[in-house]
Amino acid sequence: MSKKLIVAIDGPAGSGKSTSAKLVAQQLGYLYVDSGAMYRAVTFLAIRKNVLNNNVEIIKLAEETEIDLKFADGKTYVFTNGENITDYIRSAAVNENVSIVSKIYGVRKPLVEKQKAMSNINCGIVMEGRDISTVVFPNADVKIFLTASIEKRAERRVKEYNEKGIGVDVNEIKQNISQRDKLDTTRELSPLLKAKDAIEIDTSKVTIEEQVEKILKIVKETADKRNNKKKL
Ligand code: CDP
Repeated sequence: MSKKLIVAIDGPAGSGKSTSAKLVAQQLGYLYVDSGAMYRAVTFLAIRKNVLNNNVEIIKLAEETEIDLKFADGKTYVFTNGENITDYIRSAAVNENVSIVSKIYGVRKPLVEKQKAMSNINCGIVMEGRDISTVVFPNADVKIFLTASIEKRAERRVKEYNEKGIGVDVNEIKQNISQRDKLDTTRELSPLLKAKDAIEIDTSKVTIEEQVEKILKIVKETADKRNNKKKL
């Protein structure tokens, strides 16, 4: 498998995107990018600056902040203008506001440009988010759309928080996920939807290993096809 591919993974919160994308990237030696972390970073900065009700200021933050993602020890570290804000981007306040911030055209434009530029590297890339197959990399070599029932997705989120020692209420989590689903799928710009040529995987009843295996198989088959085409 020599060709370096672009792998786009989209899906709603708790569908297993991050876990699968990280493991797939690790196995292939590809760059892993969590695009949601960038929207979360801008949202956190807007909350801290108390400008959530001022779109001009939010857009300025998206345009002018240098956002760096560093993946190490299975985790994405987020830096804004050199400051490590990793621990703040998954707070309840960010969860509540991120879908509102990411609806703004002036926020999406600079972030999507940065995401597109990340493919200019000498290795393959696995990027996960909501609009990766449709807007960021419409020509991605592999497009995966993950889904799962709301119950399963909420259950996974609760488990993630509990593992970090944070107690959360399952109904609150379910409510936040449903609300974000609604905003993300109905927004005018780059809504969360399955690209026509994406392969859908329902992760409700499969293990992480099985879903990673499935994606790896699709990537390998695609790479082989591309290599054979080159030889012809
Ligand atoms: O981890 P989780 O699935 O909960 O969310 P995330 O991937 O961190 O994304 C947080 C929010 O950012 C989403 O609910 C979307 O509103 C927004 N987002 C987006 O608009 N486009 C992306 N490519 C990624 C995230």
